[in-house]
Amino acid sequence: MIPAATECIDHITGGSIEYVKYGASSERYIRESTLITENEMEELRKMDAILFGAIGDPRVKPGIMERGVILRLRRELGLFLNLRPARSLPFSKFDMNIAIARENTEEFYMGFGGKIDEGGSKFLHRSNAWSGELEVSGSSDDDLYFNLGVMSRKNLERFFRKALSFKQANEGKGVTVVDKANAVTGLYEIWREVAGEELAKAGIKPHFMYGDAVAYDLVMDPSKFGLIMASNLYGDILSDLCAGMIGGLGFAPSGSYGLGKVALFEPVHGSAPDIAGRGIANPIGAILSGAMMLDHLGMKEKGQALEEAVGLAVQDGVMTHDIGGSDGTKRVVASVVKHLP
Ligand code: IPM
Ligand code: MG
Repeated sequence: MIPAATECIDHITGGSIEYVKYGASSERYIRESTLITENEMEELRKMDAILFGAIGDPRVKPGIMERGVILRLRRELGLFLNLRPARSLPFSKFDMNIAIARENTEEFYMGFGGKIDEGGSKFLHRSNAWSGELEVSGSSDDDLYFNLGVMSRKNLERFFRKALSFKQANEGKGVTVVDKANAVTGLYEIWREVAGEELAKAGIKPHFMYGDAVAYDLVMDPSKFGLIMASNLYGDILSDLCAGMIGGLGFAPSGSYGLGKVALFEPVHGSAPDIAGRGIANPIGAILSGAMMLDHLGMKEKGQALEEAVGLAVQDGVMTHDIGGSDGTKRVVASVVKHLP
């Protein structure tokens, strides 16, 4: 989907963006067992932005590509916030203009866990914000497995501060902070505490809600939500829910941000191996991710124009098979390009 996005981007920027291509993929992993090299990491760190396509493949065991590439990039580049806007399109069943700010590196995504061996096991973890070591032992008739979710004040402070900078996109709708503080008490105690402090500094009263109730209220009446701040796992789930509500994962963009200049933009959808290579996949999530990237690169108006062109193309009735249409990827791109200034 990346060529579809860059075609639109090049059109609106007059080709002023210089790209460096990186070959991390399942294909390369199967061939060379390489996920991402240290060299690539170093180079990526210095980029202004990364436009990332899906890399999953059914031939590779679940978790390998995800942990080895995308989760690693998010973690090692310090991209602690993932923004996932969900705005209604002309055919959407729901009227909504929501942005989910998802914490992107901690909680249950740290990969801190595994099987507890008889006699005990030691687990090590290093992250941008925090590093730790844990010795676990247990006795049971059954095998024991665990995963630890960790949150650090340092990361939460910067997460909530950055999340607030996306508030203007959802004027007047308030801020919902999502957790499960009634059941998972340790993590979400500090989550609530820091959210309360950071939002108070900005003069905003947080509306705390449990994740299950947010899922329920979203489908009952999404119009009351504006900016949703969610922990990593809740953000993952709620952003798929919102994508489904606007019409499908194919329309959902995302951007991962940190403190430095580099940010990573990717469609929320995966690699859809069942239709890969047939020229029929929906490029809109990737194109809208490109629009978010232009905004990040200081080309806000061009990003907006690209988003508007997507809206106009959809209004013309150009649709891929995932929403019942018969247009191919190329036809969608051509239609978006036609509507660009
Ligand atoms: C997403 C994806 C990833 C995530 C997977 C591929 C690890 O579902 O970007 O939402 O859970 O973050
Ligand atoms: Mg997901």
